[in-house]
Amino acid sequence: MVSVIGEAAFDDAWGGRAAALGQLRSGRARASHLRAVHTGAGSLALGQEPDTGATEVLVAAFRATMRRVVGGVCVVTADVGGMPHGTTVSAFFSLSMRPPMMAVSLDNTSNLLAGIRVGQAAGINILAAGQADLALRFARKSDDKLAGVAWTSDHGSPRLAGVHAWVAVRVGRAVPGGDHTLLLCEVLASTPAEAPAPLTYHEGDFGTHVTP
Ligand SMILES: Cc1cc2nc3c(=O)[nH]c(=O)nc-3n(C[C@H](O)[C@H](O)[C@H](O)COP(=O)(O)O)c2cc1C
Repeated sequence: MVSVIGEAAFDDAWGGRAAALGQLRSGRARASHLRAVHTGAGSLALGQEPDTGATEVLVAAFRATMRRVVGGVCVVTADVGGMPHGTTVSAFFSLSMRPPMMAVSLDNTSNLLAGIRVGQAAGINILAAGQADLALRFARKSDDKLAGVAWTSDHGSPRLAGVHAWVAVRVGRAVPGGDHTLLLCEVLASTPAEAPAPLTYHEGDFGTHVTP
């Protein structure tokens, strides 16, 4: 797999450009309405507060390590307070096939997390190569991120035009994990979409996947 670098440069966990714009990490209140305490035996660190014993050196090393992981990029969309909303997310994955489930990890400062409810519909818009501008747009803090963006309603959530793939989900459970919350979602519909090539994110740069 080759990741083709292009379009935008980032220098922190999610992106220095967006952070430089002052849009990331607004320090919003934690989404306590979604936090479900996970008390099962052997539950690792789930349900606990962030480990304040972790040194900043370890955090920086871990961040640098995870920047090495090539990932896809999606925009998670949902109705938030009567307004369509979306957030750029790279921490998403297929969780189960029977039944089909997806998981999405949201920072506890996310406005999407603060507004979404268990049982609510959401959309996973897996971005196409050439949609880095959308990834940047939805990584900013704004109540009107979809203004001027082409989208339709699909299974009750905004489906962005021109995406690489689309999954309609319903939020089933919210599991706390340190400074993030994992949304476990039931898949309602799923389709590869019109654009053939994916948007990828690696070492703070957007790219795509090509077969040598
Ligand atoms: C490439 C990229 C990947 C990102 N991945 C995530 C992620 O997996 N989870 C997350 O909570 N934020 C992620 N972010 C940051 C959010 O998009 C950003 O904090 C956004 O402002 C949150 O919007 P909201 O507060 O409206 O939900 C990512 C940003 C970029 C640029």
